[in-house]
Amino acid sequence: MPIAKDKDVARAVEILRSGGVVAFPTETVYGLGADALNPQAVARVFAIKRRPPDHPLIVHLPDVSYLKDWACDIPRAAYRLAEKFWPGPLTLILKRAAIVPDSVTGGQDSVGLRVPGHPVALALLEKFGGAVAAPSANRFGHVSPTRAEHVREELGSEADMILDGGPCRVGLESTIVSLLDARPLILRPGAISRSMLAEALGEEIETGTAEKITLRTPGMLVSHYAPHTPLHKVPAAELYERAFALVTQGQRVGVLTRQAGEPASGLHYYLLPSDPKGYAHELYDTLHKADARRLDVLLIEDPPQDEAWLAVRDRLSRATSTSKLLNSSTDTRETG
Ligand code: TXA
Ligand code: MG
Repeated sequence: MPIAKDKDVARAVEILRSGGVVAFPTETVYGLGADALNPQAVARVFAIKRRPPDHPLIVHLPDVSYLKDWACDIPRAAYRLAEKFWPGPLTLILKRAAIVPDSVTGGQDSVGLRVPGHPVALALLEKFGGAVAAPSANRFGHVSPTRAEHVREELGSEADMILDGGPCRVGLESTIVSLLDARPLILRPGAISRSMLAEALGEEIETGTAEKITLRTPGMLVSHYAPHTPLHKVPAAELYERAFALVTQGQRVGVLTRQAGEPASGLHYYLLPSDPKGYAHELYDTLHKADARRLDVLLIEDPPQDEAWLAVRDRLSRATSTSKLLNSSTDTRETG
């Protein structure tokens, strides 16, 4: 399907208005959207995604002026961040306004809000003239889609329409910042980094650990963002040694690596960029491609330790299998 045109966006708006569900591109990943004020439409999003009902959705707004309608007791820090990073890959958790349906927030008294930085998403939101509740357009627990064809492969015709906006520029989900307490807290790392946030806020900001996060945030579940094929992280220096050991045992092995090398027999080889932005942009697409081969196991090398790789490290640690590498048939990972 070609990139969405005005008439496609107009049809998507009609679908949203009549309570339908539309998959649409954002700069991070594709979302599965419904009219945020229509609980039946929102319920369909949960059903298609097979997402537990108590896990809240992000509400996508056309612009910052909608903030006051969807949140209350809004701190100055929220405006500071919104002005600096919206439209863009940042979600703010704020106290919800009375208008926000329980189905969107999973019953919590907070709401996640963002203005996405993608021309098709913005055209959709502006023409709709309201808020669109949308999780990533994948089944619960699985890898997020970064191309329209990922959505089509995974959800088929369950969405009423899929708007194609080409490959997502960022490729990893938005940074989530909670502004519910006196001190802002990063709940999910993303392209807007801790240092960018600290600079905009004029104060340090912490990244929440699982213990600190008492809110329900499924992206923080230990197992999430996972392919169907068991995926294992291994130290870069051991990548090929481990891969060949598995090939010798008769396994069909995929290797996802930043190190250009000679493709070797018995290995399916996927080269990822060596810079963190390029890597983030291609990671999910590469996982989708490798997963589609239905190999026995995928090996991916540990990403570097510095801040620029934090979001990649976070997603990979949740996407990778907890089972023993040489025993991948007894994978214990739960996929939601
Ligand atoms: O980049 C993104 O954020 C994409 C695009 C489509 O906008 N959306 C996305 O949605 O990743 P989803 O539903 O897959 O992940 C949203 C995360 C979940 O971990 C959810 O729990 C959290 O946001 N969230 C939403 N509302 C929340 C709230 N009130 N409190 C805490 N976490 C919240
Ligand atoms: Mg998701």
